Amino acid sequence: MTAAFDFALEASDGRARTGRITTPRGEIRTPAFMPVGTAGTVKGMLPESVRATGADILLGNTYHLMLRPTAERIDRLGGLHGFMNWDRPILTDSGGFQVMSLGALRKLDADGVTFKSHIDGSKHRLTPERSMEIQRLLGSDIVMCFDECPSLPADRDRIAASMRLSMDWAARSKAAFGDRPGHALFGIQQGGLERDLRAESAERLRAIGFHGYAIGGLAVGEGQAAMFDCLDYAPEQLPADRPRYLMGVGKPDDIVGAVARGVDMMDCVLPTRSGRTGQAFTRHGVVNIRNARHADDPRPLDAACGCPACRNYSRAYLHHVSRAKEIIGSMLMTWHNLQFYQDLMAGMRGAIAEGRFDAWQAEFHAARAEGDI
Ligand code: GUN
Ligand code: ZN
Repeated sequence: MTAAFDFALEASDGRARTGRITTPRGEIRTPAFMPVGTAGTVKGMLPESVRATGADILLGNTYHLMLRPTAERIDRLGGLHGFMNWDRPILTDSGGFQVMSLGALRKLDADGVTFKSHIDGSKHRLTPERSMEIQRLLGSDIVMCFDECPSLPADRDRIAASMRLSMDWAARSKAAFGDRPGHALFGIQQGGLERDLRAESAERLRAIGFHGYAIGGLAVGEGQAAMFDCLDYAPEQLPADRPRYLMGVGKPDDIVGAVARGVDMMDCVLPTRSGRTGQAFTRHGVVNIRNARHADDPRPLDAACGCPACRNYSRAYLHHVSRAKEIIGSMLMTWHNLQFYQDLMAGMRGAIAEGRFDAWQAEFHAARAEGDI
């Protein structure tokens, strides 16, 4: 029995929306936060633990997996879901963005990009067609178009040329993806902070036609105010009846602001990466558990959190294992942060469904203003 890929909006409150995406591998409740499982693992977490936090979908990376252990090997072993023991939906990024941030000696041309691996210096090439092939071999449920994105600030001509190249690649991605029932292909809007370029990009993507639309090229150094200014128009340039995915965002207040502006999906390494360096996200803001003030504190990290780190351990213990760089320190802090992010999404979904998202946002900001005590 294969359910088709589908998106149903259930309620909106202002520009914020809640709904669900249906895939053959399960439902994705939106707004959704996707934990990042770059190399076939959400670092420090068993897949069942990630699921226990409430995650409906993970993100994987073409760039990392093509280099190690390779897409062909994962395909021979039955695909990424079985390989990493996660049977729910997986979205894969297409590789271009990671080549630009991680690859060495990158050489971009109109056809694609050639680069050296950050792991062993070996030479590789990605094109829209090869990215679609890799994401098919991985068994990805939501495939991202192959795109390119300049880091900001960049001049307008560079942003325009890069966006137009990405739109040409979006058309080639769609042709190479073909028709794969139950699998979705998302386009990626580019255009930096230029409203007319974002509009042109959205037009090109709508003309090609995708199952969903991502907003790319943000959270690349422009700052929250500039990002929110862009999100005041970018989501509405994209079809209202399709999921909108803001790539690589962000901090909890970025996520709340993006949802308030009509974004349905997000991903970020922040909860996992910060957990490994001792940073915890709580209702009252960021807590650095390695700070000396926690050394003798018998209280939980966050009394309102139901995760194992908060139910079963003191701040003093988390302080000790995080400082001592014990593996369990990374595990517990990562679990807590992923739980915090998923609770945040669930809170927003409930508030939007009940038409009280403004009050929810006011409470969110008030709790942060109090600070951690
Ligand atoms: N991750 C964060 N931003 C982007 C983007 O603009 N494109 C892609 N492919 N991935 C991203
Ligand atoms: Zn917790």
